[in-house]
Amino acid sequence: MQGRKVAIIGVGMTTFGEHWDRGFRDLVVEAGLRAIQDAKLTGEEISAGYVGTMASGALVGQEHAGALIADYMGLNPIPVTRVEGACASGSLALRQGVMAIASGLHDIVVVGGVEKMTDLDTAAVSEILGGAGDQEWELFMGATFPGLYAMMARRHMHEYGTTKEMLSAVSVKNHWNGARNKYAQFQKEITMEDAMTAKMVADPLGLMDCSPITDGAAAVILAPIEKAASYTKKPVEIVASEQASGTLALHSRKSLTSIEAAKIAGAKAYKTAGLTPKDIDVAEVHDCFTIAEIIATEDLGFFKPGESGPAALAGKTRFDAEIAINTSGGLKAAGHPVGATGIKQACEIAWQLRGEGEGTQVKDAKIGLTHNVGGSGATAVVHIYKQGW
Ligand code: COA
Repeated sequence: MQGRKVAIIGVGMTTFGEHWDRGFRDLVVEAGLRAIQDAKLTGEEISAGYVGTMASGALVGQEHAGALIADYMGLNPIPVTRVEGACASGSLALRQGVMAIASGLHDIVVVGGVEKMTDLDTAAVSEILGGAGDQEWELFMGATFPGLYAMMARRHMHEYGTTKEMLSAVSVKNHWNGARNKYAQFQKEITMEDAMTAKMVADPLGLMDCSPITDGAAAVILAPIEKAASYTKKPVEIVASEQASGTLALHSRKSLTSIEAAKIAGAKAYKTAGLTPKDIDVAEVHDCFTIAEIIATEDLGFFKPGESGPAALAGKTRFDAEIAINTSGGLKAAGHPVGATGIKQACEIAWQLRGEGEGTQVKDAKIGLTHNVGGSGATAVVHIYKQGW
């Protein structure tokens, strides 16, 4: 990566779930303060902030989220900037923070992600989320996100023989991981039968193939690596931060069985880091639906096209197997407060590399990756991390 080397020196998050008793600002302040405490800062060292939120205006009526957060976190007058890229908003904010430090513009930066989604009913939330796709040609015609990913799943099944059992295996594994994550929305294991027989949402995706609607926030503190050692014994270096764009609408894509922007962002990230998929010990990937995890692990080169479903069924993506995928429980079980997800992924990888992964700690985890997608793949962001000590 060009410029100064950047490290995560502190992480923090709220529990993910339904926080009916707490406001948007309370969530982000809690996550931010936890990260500040984790980095052992007073807060005065911070010179800039970035926050990812996809739809705070539509979901809770609150625009101008950067200024609100600066105010409620006691950060005034430092600049705090809101970043939006649908469900990839968190990772886009992280990338802004990385660039601010790498360029020498700022030293200590706080990056947050937040969404408060459960104040509205499912229909209203679906319509707001649908704005992450092509409003005129998809949402207006009735295609919700479960519907869009269902089309991708059907095509994957048609081309590669991927089965409902394979999708269910992703869900069972992520619920198993989520059951061991104290921050997860669903801390309960499910069986293959639970996944296979859950109510249908958008054929072939049932309830257990879908990420839920979630409230939550997460935050990280970034610093130049040469200063990181004065705050923490275990800085986590960000060795690649790459982003790519693709078509908003599914119908404009050459293929429905992979996400081109994610493939490009992933390939660029490996090149920047001088690493290959085989070097990755643990990855948090964007499993907004079970098929999305299957596509992600193929796009990132962990498995060849068509081999990810069988790999999930064979248990190769468990925390103690070939490649640990979504040790947090992923979006499926840990929850998906859309703007917060990318930052939660970074928190999970930092914990894993620091050896604090609790019930799903990957043995000797030294290199991690996060993959965060906006909409059905129009924005993709991939970060690679390694132990910085
Ligand atoms: N997985 C497992 N359980 C879920 C769930 C999920 N994804 N979503 C809801 N539940 C549970 C609830 O906890 C509740 O359980 P309880 O009865 O024991 O309390 C029950 O199912 C009913 O919840 P409810 O909120 O009424 O579900 P719903 O049918 O209104 O919504 C979905 C379910 C799948 C339609 C909704 O979660 C959804 O739209 N998810 C996708 C979100 C999305 O598109 N995100 C962006 C991706 S790009």
